Amino acid sequence: MADTHQSDLRHTVYIETYGCQMNVRDSEMLCGIFRQAGCDIIDTPEKADLILLNTCAVRERAEQRVIGRVTQLFSLKKQSSVRIGIVGCMAQHLKDALLESLPGLDFILGPDTYRTLPELFDLDPGEHRADWSTNRDELYEGIPSWRRDGSPVAFVTVMRGCDMMCTFCVVPHTRGRERCRSWRDIVAEVTQLAEEGVMEVVLLGQTVNAWREEKEKMGFGDLLRKVSATGIPRIRFTSPHPLYYGEEELKAIAECENVCESIHLPVQAGNTDVLKKMNRRYTREEYLGIVRTIRQSIPHVTLSTDIIVGFPGETESRFEDTLSLIAECSFDSGYLFKYSPRSGTRAEREFEDDVPAEEKQRRLEQVIELQTELTRRSQQAMIGGQYEILVDGIGDRGPNQWTGRTRGNRTVVIESEKELMGRLVKVIIEEAGTWTVRGRLIE
Ligand code: SAH
Ligand code: F3S
Repeated sequence: MADTHQSDLRHTVYIETYGCQMNVRDSEMLCGIFRQAGCDIIDTPEKADLILLNTCAVRERAEQRVIGRVTQLFSLKKQSSVRIGIVGCMAQHLKDALLESLPGLDFILGPDTYRTLPELFDLDPGEHRADWSTNRDELYEGIPSWRRDGSPVAFVTVMRGCDMMCTFCVVPHTRGRERCRSWRDIVAEVTQLAEEGVMEVVLLGQTVNAWREEKEKMGFGDLLRKVSATGIPRIRFTSPHPLYYGEEELKAIAECENVCESIHLPVQAGNTDVLKKMNRRYTREEYLGIVRTIRQSIPHVTLSTDIIVGFPGETESRFEDTLSLIAECSFDSGYLFKYSPRSGTRAEREFEDDVPAEEKQRRLEQVIELQTELTRRSQQAMIGGQYEILVDGIGDRGPNQWTGRTRGNRTVVIESEKELMGRLVKVIIEEAGTWTVRGRLIE
C-alpha cells in the first residue's frame, strides 16, 4: 500500500531533445538529475507534471520547430497543471525574448543551470523561472548518468563550451567558455559503461580534439590512448576542429586498435577569403594539407564534413571553390547547410546577409548533388568487401533486419534470425546504392 501511495506522489517528467549529440547526452543527464530527485521519466507528454524541450539554436529552422512544438504542447495545460519549459541553447540564445513571444512558458533554463532543475517543482502556480547564468566551472561531475534506450553506443562528454568564435556560430554564446573534464573522470565513466555492456563510446565536445589537461601536459591524443586502454571495443569522437589535428592525435588514432578510423573534418567553405571571414583560422590550402596528412597517416580512413553555403560575401566564384574542394577531398559524407544569420554572432552584426534566399537554395542543391554522388561512389566501392559492424539498430524494411555501423561509420543493413543487438559481426557487402548499403552475415 505504502509503495503505491508513494508512487502516486512521484513527479513525472517528459523530455524532448533537439539538435546535436551533445544535447542527446545532456538529456540523459537531465534524466539522471530528475531520477536522483525521485522523479519518473515518461515517454509521452500527456501524463507529465513537467515537460522540457532541450533545444538547439544553431539555425533559425531549429528554433522555429521548437516554437511550433511548444505551442502545440500548451494545449495540455487545459487539462492539467503541467509545467512546460525550454532548456538548452535556445533558452540561452533568446533569453527574455522567448518569454515575451511564448508567455505560456513556465521556465527557461540555460545549459549551465541544470543542477537547479528539481527546484521547478517548488514553483508556485503561475510563477516563472528564468535562468541563463553561466558557470565556467560547471562540468556536471557526480551526476549518475541514465541511459534509457539500452543501445550499445553511449555518448561521453569530454568538454563543454567552445572558445573558437567562428563568426557565424551561436554555440560559444549559448554554451559558454571551453572547459575540459579530467581524464580520470572520463576514463572512470568509460570503464563503468564498458562494465554495463556498452560496446562503443562517442567522446563529445564542440571542439573535441582541443581537449587538454594542462597540469598533466596531456592533449587529445593522450586522452584517446587512456580511453583506448579501458578496452572498450570501439571509440569515436565528435566534433573536432581541423586546427587541432596534430601528429599526436593522428598517431593515436592510427595506433589504437579500438579507435575507429572515421574522421569528421568540418570545412564550412572552400575559399580562403570566406574562411577568414568565418574566423575558421585555416586557409583552403592548409585544410587540404590536413586532409592529405590524415589520409597518409590513417589507412582506409573515412572523412565527413560540414559545409555552409551562402555565407555573406560568397560570390559565385567563391562558391565554386567550395564545390572544387568537396570534389578534391572526396568526402564520404557531408552535412550541408544554408547560412542562417544568428543574433549575437559577429557575422550577423557585421556582415550583410547578401546572398539571396533562392541563390542559397540553388547552391545548397548543388552541393547536395555533388556530395550525394561522392557518397554513392564511396558506398559502391564497399561492394564485395568484408567489414566488421557493430549492430546497433533494427531495420524497418521487413522482419529479421538489423542495422550496424562499420568502423568507417557506414550504416549497413543485414538480415538474420539471430539476436544481434550489440554484437560485433563480420559482413560482406553485397549491395550499395546512394542511401542504403546491404550486407550478408559471414557465419
Ligand atoms: N563543433 C560543433 C559545431 C556546432 S554547429 C559540433 O559539435 O558539431 C554544427 C554545424 O552547423 C557547423 O559545423 C556548421 O556547419 C553549421 N552551422 C553553425 N552555425 C550555422 C549558421 N549560422 N548557419 C548555418 N549553419 C551553421
Ligand atoms: Fe561553432 Fe566554430 Fe565552435 S562552428 S561550436 S564556434 S568551432
